[in-house]
Amino acid sequence: QVAAASGHTVVLVDQSDEILKKSTKGIEESLKRVTKKKFADKPEAGAEFIEKTLKNLTTSTDAVAVVHSTDLVIEAIVENQEIKNELFKRLDKFAPEHTIFASNTSSLQITQLANSTTRQDRFGGLHFFNPVPMMKLVEVIKTPMTSQKTFESLVDFSKAVGKSPVSCKDTPGFIVNRLLVPYMMEAVRLFERGDASKEDIDVAMKLGAGYPMGPFELLDYVGLDTSKYIIDGWHSLEPNNPLFAPSPLLNQLVEEKKLGKKTGEGFYKYK
Ligand code: 3HC
Repeated sequence: QVAAASGHTVVLVDQSDEILKKSTKGIEESLKRVTKKKFADKPEAGAEFIEKTLKNLTTSTDAVAVVHSTDLVIEAIVENQEIKNELFKRLDKFAPEHTIFASNTSSLQITQLANSTTRQDRFGGLHFFNPVPMMKLVEVIKTPMTSQKTFESLVDFSKAVGKSPVSCKDTPGFIVNRLLVPYMMEAVRLFERGDASKEDIDVAMKLGAGYPMGPFELLDYVGLDTSKYIIDGWHSLEPNNPLFAPSPLLNQLVEEKKLGKKTGEGFYKYK
């Protein structure tokens, strides 16, 4: 959405037409929200902006078939090293020589993903934040093998889509998630111990620390499955780090398919 809105030609790829339909609908709704504010006094210009953005966006269920015409691939599939590696390996065979590959992974090592391809110098991390149309940050990750030219292209692309890039070494969670995920897990542990209710913890962090969402609201927003993938991955890397310890309550909710806002229930119920 943000790439298309800033004039880039985008092909959105997902597993089924049904998912792509849902995604396109979500993008249209989000564009309406963005436009309402940006073109408050000029509804016609707003409608034109939406039309132009949607024209820049096509969809496909076949990544291999569309990758030949790309300059940049941004992968944002399930947080699973093997599945990501397999996708990158496949795309590497069909993408043009100059094409840069980037992963939006929240927690996996970019170096390991790059190693599944033959273009380690044209591979980096490009980590966006939910909700992407609103959050201004992008973390740009350079591995020891990423070329300076690739890094600069990723920084330039981030700026071209209207974001503010920061850089970080290829370390678990980069900057934001390395601080945010342990904080959210500590909130779950506080609740699991019975020290405070989840409602009071959320109110406390919003009114006492000025956060726009409390930790339980944010966990539901990000997705409990994604949060679990992140913490499980880090726990396997550093089993003795108490900040990376899994939470029985989080595991139970994921087991029950209560994944947060997207499934209608997580720590809270939605509609
Ligand atoms: N698309 C377009 N516009 C959106 C939007 C979306 N998806 N979501 C919210 N907005 C707009 C609304 O339309 C509204 O616009 P307005 O000012 O013109 O009315 C504005 O954002 C504010 O929205 P709301 O009034 O509904 O609610 P809030 O004031 O609470 O703002 C929020 C919503 C921007 C999501 C804010 O609550 C927030 O910043 N929350 C924290 C988000 C956060 O921490 N994100 C990081 C998560 S971690 C992550 O993503 C990393 C990953 O790897 C796990």
